[in-house]
Amino acid sequence: MLIVSKKEELIDVIASFREEENQSVGFVPTMGFLHAGHGSLITKSLSENGLTVCDIFVNPLQFNERSDFENYPQNIDKDSQYLKSLGCDILYLPEHKDLYPENHIPLQYNFGLLETIMEGSNRPGHFQGVAEVVRILFEIVKPDKAYFGEKDFQQLKVIEMLVRQFEFPIQIVSCSLIREPDGLAMSSRNARLSRLEREAAPFIYHQLLWCNKNFKTYGPLQLKNIIEENFKENPIFNLEYIEFADSETLLPVSCWKDSKSVRAFVVARMGKVRLIDNIILF
Ligand code: PAJ
Repeated sequence: MLIVSKKEELIDVIASFREEENQSVGFVPTMGFLHAGHGSLITKSLSENGLTVCDIFVNPLQFNERSDFENYPQNIDKDSQYLKSLGCDILYLPEHKDLYPENHIPLQYNFGLLETIMEGSNRPGHFQGVAEVVRILFEIVKPDKAYFGEKDFQQLKVIEMLVRQFEFPIQIVSCSLIREPDGLAMSSRNARLSRLEREAAPFIYHQLLWCNKNFKTYGPLQLKNIIEENFKENPIFNLEYIEFADSETLLPVSCWKDSKSVRAFVVARMGKVRLIDNIILF
């Protein structure tokens, strides 16, 4: 596996691959501290492309809480070992100035309602920061396909909109959410949970599963109340939101029959760690 930290080198390597091979380039953007969730994106890209590029960059622009940025876990050695073991072709470790030169002024994006609901309203500026780094990375890597996880379902929708708005000739491939054996959604932030918190954390998934099994008995509002009460009874959690939203538009639903497909979205904090999860209802 080639490890590159200068964008000029990366651009050259990808250009010569394109000259020599008539095969596609797959790209997996990450912030590192990789786990099997990231691994599934890499494996999918490897199976669909002649060249797979993964990048690791903890993007300061997308953190709306300073402490979350400062405490974001990192282990580049372990990550590069893991990527090598999967067979990833290129690991790009951009320097800050590669993506954000001095006096860089980020573009302003308009994602409409996507920015006013759930992660949009709860993490002001987050999607602006995500869009900025992903746009810049897309312009450097120029992949044919880019891989994003359904764990961050709203992010996936934002990226699809970004690609449409900028008319990038890139296919966005959505990848299923990967869980720990006990059901907790895999996340780099799980490493920051205490032992007690980690043991309790699968409760989030169990609540989602309960929604999935029981939604026909209740309306969305009733179901929301039940889940909110369940979280209140479990004070190790601080529930930020539970929302039922249309799988395409992500607009909240107040009646099941108004949508063809609905997902349940939850965000809960355990101490300082913010955990995000979602499940399809129908
Ligand atoms: P990060 O949280 O590192 O995630 C990188 C990619 O892995 C995202 O597409 C995310 O949805 C996916 N992913 C994470 N956990 C997953 C899981 N358990 N199952 C399936 N996929 C999972 O998302 C980001 O980084 C950043 O916002 C980024 C897009 C890199 C921009 O900085």
